[in-house]
Amino acid sequence: MLDRSSENRIRIFDTTLRDGEQAPGCSMTLSEKLRVAKALSELNVDIIEAGFPAASPGDFESVKAIADHNFGPVICGLARCNAADIEKVHAAVKGADRHRIHVFVATSAIHREHKLKMAKEEIIKSAVGAIKMARELCVDVEFSPEDASRTELSYLAEVVSAAIEAGATTVNIPDTVGYTVPAEFDQLFRYLKEHVARINEITLSVHCHNDLGMAVANSLAAVGAGARQIECTINGIGERAGNCSLEEAVMAIKTREEFFGLQTGIDTTRLYPTSRLVSNITGMHTPRNKAIVGENAFAHEAGIHQHGMLQHASTYEIMRPEDVGLSKSNLVLGKHSGRHAFRERVKDLGFELDDFETNRAFQDFKKLADKKKDVYDGDIESIIMNADSATSGPWTLQSLEVQTHTDEPSTATVNLVAEDGAEVSESARRDGPVAAAFQALESATGVEMVLRNFELHSTSIGEDAQGEVTVTVDINGQSYRGQGASVDIVEAGCRACLEVMNRTLRRRERGEIAAADATSTHASV
Ligand code: KIV
Ligand code: ZN
Repeated sequence: MLDRSSENRIRIFDTTLRDGEQAPGCSMTLSEKLRVAKALSELNVDIIEAGFPAASPGDFESVKAIADHNFGPVICGLARCNAADIEKVHAAVKGADRHRIHVFVATSAIHREHKLKMAKEEIIKSAVGAIKMARELCVDVEFSPEDASRTELSYLAEVVSAAIEAGATTVNIPDTVGYTVPAEFDQLFRYLKEHVARINEITLSVHCHNDLGMAVANSLAAVGAGARQIECTINGIGERAGNCSLEEAVMAIKTREEFFGLQTGIDTTRLYPTSRLVSNITGMHTPRNKAIVGENAFAHEAGIHQHGMLQHASTYEIMRPEDVGLSKSNLVLGKHSGRHAFRERVKDLGFELDDFETNRAFQDFKKLADKKKDVYDGDIESIIMNADSATSGPWTLQSLEVQTHTDEPSTATVNLVAEDGAEVSESARRDGPVAAAFQALESATGVEMVLRNFELHSTSIGEDAQGEVTVTVDINGQSYRGQGASVDIVEAGCRACLEVMNRTLRRRERGEIAAADATSTHASV
């Protein structure tokens, strides 16, 4: 039997921009973070954890920018239990009408002994002091005992009681290392409900990592035992195996409403566009079979399933694609499609473009339709996502010529044209076509880089599908990510690489970095 608490509304606390962004390869620039924050507010999440302001000046600036935009949801920042961190969070989030300070300290024996070297009482003292200080600055304070799932139950109850007495308004129970299992987590939450006197006066929250693949199941078990806030990320991105996936937790609660008896405030029709936005920005593409937002999530191949679906969709379909924002048909556009059809499709895919952006995207669409017969949703998304990078100079790729042979090195020649009309042409010979083209780009732009990762993803189906390439490169010891798309995958790689080179050159021109020294992080590029 479910323990139904008096409230049946689950708050969705999104930490894509904090715990999600901490994952290797998921760092975002300030403008990317603002786009994600806007999308999260359109999704109607209750709380956005925008970052960890004390982590770096770039983190502080991005949390502040998000708070100052005042998108609507509560804006939260993370702090350790010390005055400097708490003051930084307050300074960063206070621009938002509704803001929250989230303080945390580890409580498990392993963390106490090996990380903090602090006794149990010292940890409680530090948590209480931090919560009291945060409450003086802000009415909304969340406290997390890190590694709660591996903390002795009686001590955890003591910590949570002390946090509530000190003024915490939300207490979050993290399974920091993804160690717990649903039945055990259910017992933990029931134990706290029984042993912490004022627990019904605060919002009890859950925060799960996915190391054993159970983050969503563990979060739902906690909800069944009384948690009323779920901390999660879009596409489940996050450190190691990631965090609880927002779209999976939300759709489980919606689809099994008769079981849980609970609702979220999420506009589920925004799930798919938000998922695509985050995967396009981070370059972390969801697997085809990913629940809810994977390309195959609603595809029925087996004949017997298709037959059943044609008789009645509910035979094999527990959710409707349109409920998660997937348009019913992957409608194909081509070179005869007009501006109106294009604009409608862009809207259906969840993008809001102004006239300038629509015109620019429509021109790119026409160019692409000349190269490939059918233009799919993935192609249109790629055009829109890559629009800014494709048009921001100084250099534009004019042409690329590549020669490859199985037994010999490849040769590539690139022609670049600058904003002032200047042209440069360079060739290089290397072991493969990508290496040769990238070397030619380095000679042409004067930007030296080390390629760390080259990821290729097909934006649609068929032989003439576009390849979308995400490169991760090091320039003067700093890591940067770039994206490019084309029906020719070497050209897509060149566009991705040139995007990073152009960004570097623009920053050098603005004096933000020296030619041979980059001191800022990716987050501020
Ligand atoms: O996983 C964790 O314990 C965290 C806390 C800071 C909430 O991310
Ligand atoms: Zn976490």
